[in-house]
Amino acid sequence: MKTDIAAQRAKHLLPLPGPMYARPIQIVEGRMQFLYDENGKEYLDAFAGVATVSIGHSHPGFVKALKGQIDVLQHTPPLYLHPSVGAFAERLAKKARSVNPDMEVCFFTNSGSEANEMAAMLAKAHTGRHEFVAVQRSYHGRTLMTIALTGQGPWRNNQPYPVGVSFAPTDYAYRFDGTPAASTKAALKGLAETLKTSTSGKIAGFFAETILGVGGAITPGPEYFQEAVELVHRHGGLFVCDEVQAGVGRTGKHYFGIQHWGAKPDIIVMAKGLGNGYPIGAVITTAAVAASVKGLLHYNTFGGGAMAMAAAGAVMDAVEGEKLADNAARVGGKLKAGLETLAGKSDCIGEVRGMGLMLGVELVKSKKTKEPAPELTLAAVEKMKDLGVLVGKGGLEGSTIRIKPPLCFTEADARRTCEALAQAI
Ligand SMILES: Cc1ncc(COP(=O)(O)O)c(C=O)c1O
Repeated sequence: MKTDIAAQRAKHLLPLPGPMYARPIQIVEGRMQFLYDENGKEYLDAFAGVATVSIGHSHPGFVKALKGQIDVLQHTPPLYLHPSVGAFAERLAKKARSVNPDMEVCFFTNSGSEANEMAAMLAKAHTGRHEFVAVQRSYHGRTLMTIALTGQGPWRNNQPYPVGVSFAPTDYAYRFDGTPAASTKAALKGLAETLKTSTSGKIAGFFAETILGVGGAITPGPEYFQEAVELVHRHGGLFVCDEVQAGVGRTGKHYFGIQHWGAKPDIIVMAKGLGNGYPIGAVITTAAVAASVKGLLHYNTFGGGAMAMAAAGAVMDAVEGEKLADNAARVGGKLKAGLETLAGKSDCIGEVRGMGLMLGVELVKSKKTKEPAPELTLAAVEKMKDLGVLVGKGGLEGSTIRIKPPLCFTEADARRTCEALAQAI
């Protein structure tokens, strides 16, 4: 059965990377933070479909909302009015006012890539410029513009992408020869240099993730964003904050990751956890930026559809009602502490980083040399799966274990994750 599925995929799907394990698993059922294979084996899901299942697999409120909607109306194009899109946009914009009091307007898409495309279009329309700065080791998606904005060689195929994107260094303290504060200072100096040497000095915008997701949970220092955004604004650019992974409470305590830095985005981009697995992306911005697209033509068949809005509404209900951002802070804190204890006893854990339930464990060949250990990472991820715990792998060097479970993760789940990692390494 499993071999039939693999053979069918191999024959009828493009030969691009597929299942992540040497011995792939088949998943047939999901309940909150647990997944089940065809034999009923239970897996603790500490990756959440790549930070996507925010409130839990087949969360009862989510299922009820989608069933309720499909019984009544399942698709409407943006050509007609239906009640939920405006109501959800108002709700999301209200949330965004905690980072920028002028946030008012949303646009809905099917994915994070598409939402970042819209953010780039808005920034270009608003500024009348086309140059962007992004961050090395970032990931913003798989459309042409978002590949151009992605700062990781392996994710850039040897094909032409839009011009006008320059990269600033990452504030990657673990790999910086100096203190974390000095790493932030160097990254900000690098951003200023990039603006001076690689752009005309008049940019449309600066794209940045709050915590680099695919890049391996690299977490900029506390001073980074306020100063970076000030610099970007001085060059007339908009700050596009990519919250596709960090949003929806994942980083703990706050709904948006950027709230930990106190910086003010001009555009926020969301996707993944916003729909708990139902395809939805969103752009949130100010009325002034939004007004810039007046007179342009754009269309999206599915964006803001009734089902997507029902999904996103149910997710927001759960995040608020179940206080999932607080849970992410509490359980994530315990999980991080457990991983750090493990790191203290192991020569192959170089660093544990991240916030809330968006954590990374960078594996190295030895703490002294800090040489990345991609083979060990791959083996550890496979072994953890065999032990019944699913985690991800990431980072430019492929040496970071990514832990991003559904936000309903418990302290017992956190302990089980630490135990599996300890056994795996
Ligand atoms: C930070 C970030 N931005 C954008 C994207 C692209 O989102 P999607 O895969 O929905 O197009 C991703 C996907 O992993 C992401 O992690």
